[in-house]
Order: sequence, then C-alpha cells, then structure tokens
Amino acid sequence: MSVQSSTPLDVAIHRRDRKHDLAASLSREWMNNNVFATAWFNAMSITFPLGEQFFIESVRHFRDDISDPKLKQEVMNFFSQEGVHRREHQRYNELLCEQRGYDLNALERTARRRQKWIRKNVPAIEQLAGTVAMEHITAVLAEKILDDDQFMQDVDPAMAKLWLWHAAEEMEHKAVAFDVFCAVGGTEKMRKAALRRGTLLLALDIFRNLRHMLRADGKLWSAGVWLQGFRFLFAEGGLLRDRRPAYSEFFQDGFHPWQQDNSALLEKWKLQQ
Ligand SMILES: [Fe+2]
Ligand SMILES: [Fe+2]
Repeated sequence: MSVQSSTPLDVAIHRRDRKHDLAASLSREWMNNNVFATAWFNAMSITFPLGEQFFIESVRHFRDDISDPKLKQEVMNFFSQEGVHRREHQRYNELLCEQRGYDLNALERTARRRQKWIRKNVPAIEQLAGTVAMEHITAVLAEKILDDDQFMQDVDPAMAKLWLWHAAEEMEHKAVAFDVFCAVGGTEKMRKAALRRGTLLLALDIFRNLRHMLRADGKLWSAGVWLQGFRFLFAEGGLLRDRRPAYSEFFQDGFHPWQQDNSALLEKWKLQQ
C-alpha cells in the first residue's frame, strides 16, 4: 500500500482565498429558475461547513504519522482549501436561511448530533475512512460540474462561479485524504464499507434539507417540482444520470482517485478564470 502522495506532479493544490458575494442571488431560484435544482444545491451547501470541519479533523488526527514531504504539504493545502470552503459555505448558508426563512439550526441538527456521536465512539481510522468516502462522492460530482458545459451554462453567474471553484478544488485534492488513509494502514474493506454508509447518510441529509426548504417555500407537495427533480437528477444530462460508473470504481480492489486522470478539467477551469 502506498505511503506517499499520488497526486500527479502537474496538479498543484492551491489555496484560493475567494470571497463570494451571493446576497443578490440566494433569494432567487438561482439555478435556471428551477425550484428543485436550486433547493438541491442549497441542501448540499448546508452539509458542507460541518462536513468539511469533520474532514479536516479526521485527517489532522494522523498528520504526524505521515513521512512523505509532498504528502505532508498536500495535507496542509487540503486544510487550507477545506477551511475556505467551510467559511464561504457558512456565509452562503446564513444568508440563504436569512433570506428565505429557513432554520439553519434545525437544518444542521441531525448532522451535528451524529458527528458528536462519531467523534466519541468511532475509531479515528474509521472516521478517516468516512472522509475518504465523502471525498470520493464530492470528486464524482465535481467532475460532472466541471465537465458538462451545459450544466452550469445558464446558472446565476455568482453562484456558478462559487460551485465551479469548489468543484475544481475538490478535484485538486481528491487523493489527499485517500493517500493519508493508505499511509496509516486503512484497509480496502474499511473504505468500501464507509462509502456504502456515507452515501446513505448523505442522501438522507440532502433529502431532509430539501424537505425543510420545499416545505418553507410552500412547494413540498407540488408534483411539478418533484417531476422537475426527477428530470434534474436522472434525465439526459442530469446530475446523477451518468455518475454510476465513476462512483462504483471505488469498490474495485486497488482503486485510486487519480486512476481517473481528469486534470485536463482543471486546466480548462483555470483558463476560464
Ligand atoms: Fe470542500
Ligand atoms: Fe474535499
């Protein structure tokens, strides 16, 4: 098992200290005027500040066990990137809830309780496996957002900029937690189990957040909105439509995040900045 960094040499993990002004966008259906798609992305955003704090902590626990200088540096850059994501999505979530009348405490309650329990009861290596699994899901979704030019084409520009930036940085650091996990003796069985669990928990969190938002918007029982949701996720060009093969690669023995070399997508994104 590798104890070194496997991030390609031409992929640099940079901290970009961006500040996004989202106030004008968040009160609207910023994603193509699509109620469900907007709520879906907003629901994902709610999970990030707590999630990213957890990812940082789970990697930090093993920081001193890493010997490879390149991986050590990547870990520091991973902390920096996730730290800025956390800050920007915290602002996003506060503004969103203020403007649309959602209850941020209620939205975060279940994840907060669950994480408290995990920190107390789950071994550190299993917590890290959870981070590795969530980073895989993030990278699979990031690839879609960066690769499919149609997907973000008509989205509110300030929001598109934020989501594309986050996607690009997720792709840059997609192997960091994985490499740390391998370096400290994490097993294939552990990470595969973590992806099964993590997928279910993330789906439940997003669904719970969506329900809260659609209910507050008075659209929870709108068949049209749910039909719109089905199309947004599963129809041709939908967010999850073609994601299964990339997602499932994680269950192969010997999987590694950079076996999918999508660094060209990073170059494409950089040229658009
Ligand atoms: Fe992130
Ligand atoms: Fe990440």
